[in-house]
Amino acid sequence: MHKKVEEIKERALAACAKADTLQDLTHARVRFLGKKGELTALLRSMGQLPAEERPKFGRLVNEVRDRLEERWQQKETELFEAEEQRRLLEERIDITLPGRQVARGSFHPLTQVINQAKEIFMGMGYQVVEGPEIEEDYYNFEALNIPPDHPARDMQDTFFITEELLLRSQTSPVQIHVMEKQQPPIRIIAPGKVYRADSADVTHSPMFHQIEGLVVDEGITFADLKGTLQLFAERMFGPETKTRFRPSYFPFTEPSAEVDVSCIMCRGKGCRVCQDTGWLEVLGSGLVDPRVLKKVGYDPEKVSGFAFGMGVERIAMLKYGIHDIRLLFENDIRFLSQFSN
Ligand code: DAH
Repeated sequence: MHKKVEEIKERALAACAKADTLQDLTHARVRFLGKKGELTALLRSMGQLPAEERPKFGRLVNEVRDRLEERWQQKETELFEAEEQRRLLEERIDITLPGRQVARGSFHPLTQVINQAKEIFMGMGYQVVEGPEIEEDYYNFEALNIPPDHPARDMQDTFFITEELLLRSQTSPVQIHVMEKQQPPIRIIAPGKVYRADSADVTHSPMFHQIEGLVVDEGITFADLKGTLQLFAERMFGPETKTRFRPSYFPFTEPSAEVDVSCIMCRGKGCRVCQDTGWLEVLGSGLVDPRVLKKVGYDPEKVSGFAFGMGVERIAMLKYGIHDIRLLFENDIRFLSQFSN
């Protein structure tokens, strides 16, 4: 019997040593150490021994069992570690590979100018509003004091949809919508698309963008307009920027002025961009004509206001030195990627 124990032990150790997966190891354990395993069977057959030998034999079998258990433990740890090593090796990624560059988009230069203008005017307490691009004749012309025989009403200048409906040719009609709905004080800007029946060339596009501004309150004067636009010019074009107001005419403002900023290319010295004048025209403006205020039911004796309108493309072209307006609409990625920041 003792020999048998020794023999089982040798075979068990050999099987343990041979196992090279955790699964093999478990099978071998069941075979030798399990409930129906060889060693257990031997312990059960102890009854065949003389009574006085049984304790010694029992001890021997238990010793062998402990020894084998220990070996199995060791081997299990070994195999577990080996398997983990193998898995780590298999799943290894090379973190020294350079990453793939993810292309980052950017805002269109026109959007950048509009956003910047919004920031500037919101900082002065203005609200940003929008109006419809399909407009009634009344809002685009009549309410703005543009007489029926005004050249802007010509089919050649404005896209008419029907006799009464058209694609707005300016953002000024938003002034009327706002004043119809709200009472003074009013302080708004209205950015958006406008349309004119022009064929595209270096400076013209049948669709472009404007930003309209309107302020109405008691006691608004031309000085408020000048101060506001001076601050806007400094923020939009740089702190050294000067403004110049030239008398002009718009049907919906009286008096009216065209506003120039000192040339941002030559700082007023005179260059090709400003055609040696030192100045660049950037917007139209004026005090809201009393006739316009009356049309929306305001009392021009009580309230007054100023308005202005600027071309977004023109500002973007000046700011970024873009020579052809069409570049702004072709969406060539080589052009647009120059405006990422
Ligand atoms: N609507 C004018 C245009 O498209 C621009 C303009 C001039 C707007 C004077 C104004 C203004 O609000 O007061 O040419």
